[in-house]
Amino acid sequence: MREQRSPHTPIVKTTEVRKCYGELDVLRGVSLSVNQGQVKVIVGPSGSGKSTFLRCLALLEPIDAGHITLDGDEVTWLASGSRRRGPGERALAIHRSEVCMVFQHFNLFPHMSALENVMVGPVHVRGTPKSQARQEAMTLLERVQLSNRANHYPHELSGGQQQRAAIARALAMRPKVMLFDEPTSALDAELVREVIDVMEELVREGMTMVVVSHELRFAQEAADTIVMMANGQIIEEAPPGQFFTSPQHERTQQFLRVVK
Ligand SMILES: Nc1ncnc2c1ncn2[C@@H]1O[C@H](COP(=O)(O)OP(=O)(O)OP(=O)(O)O)[C@@H](O)[C@H]1O
Ligand SMILES: [Mg+2]
Repeated sequence: MREQRSPHTPIVKTTEVRKCYGELDVLRGVSLSVNQGQVKVIVGPSGSGKSTFLRCLALLEPIDAGHITLDGDEVTWLASGSRRRGPGERALAIHRSEVCMVFQHFNLFPHMSALENVMVGPVHVRGTPKSQARQEAMTLLERVQLSNRANHYPHELSGGQQQRAAIARALAMRPKVMLFDEPTSALDAELVREVIDVMEELVREGMTMVVVSHELRFAQEAADTIVMMANGQIIEEAPPGQFFTSPQHERTQQFLRVVK
């Protein structure tokens, strides 16, 4: 099913997304809309469902109820047992390649060099010829300042270098939106900056991004909107200026007192 496209069609939109693990209601009706080029930073206490929400958005997990659209296409993948039908396996695979996720622990393939990690998606998912994929991967590694480490394996790279390779790998799929789940929280303080620099460059280039992060400086400088999640729901959404200086919700005020 396709919505009428307009310049304002959100790239990603979730409506009342629900997800439970057994008895545990983790997402309790999450609605979020992200337009082309927007950057939304999600914050909130541990266990509030931020990572689960990103995994559902990335179509890595089915949801129990609600809708997800990607650039106007309905891509809702429902847990089995539901009567509503979602996209087939093939459509899911295509949509997954359009939403790329960068994880806290990098998740590079350990038996492949940085270059091979960046090439593998285009070659296997998109059928890009190897020589072209190699050339494009080298360009991407240059972009994240890693061309001199292209032939090194993940265990030979620093955390910051691994994360930059992971970002290049995501970019290689030419995603419509990139999701980041605490991309710097496994890094030593001095390596955080190099990853944030790459992310800020992506923001300047107009990449649409949803970022879960405790890097409040990045949130303040790069986000269009800060989204506060608590207890499986979005309780507040506001531009950084407003969010950090005059949060409306009591739970947000309490959260900011702890993290600021
Ligand atoms: N695969 C799973 N199976 C069962 N429960 C899960 C699973 N993944 C997450 N949960 C539970 O869902 C809740 C939300 O977890 P989630 O990882 O989404 O939180 P979070 O907001 O990302 O927290 P953090 O800030 O610590 O990363 C937690 O109670 C967690 O234990
Ligand atoms: Mg998390």
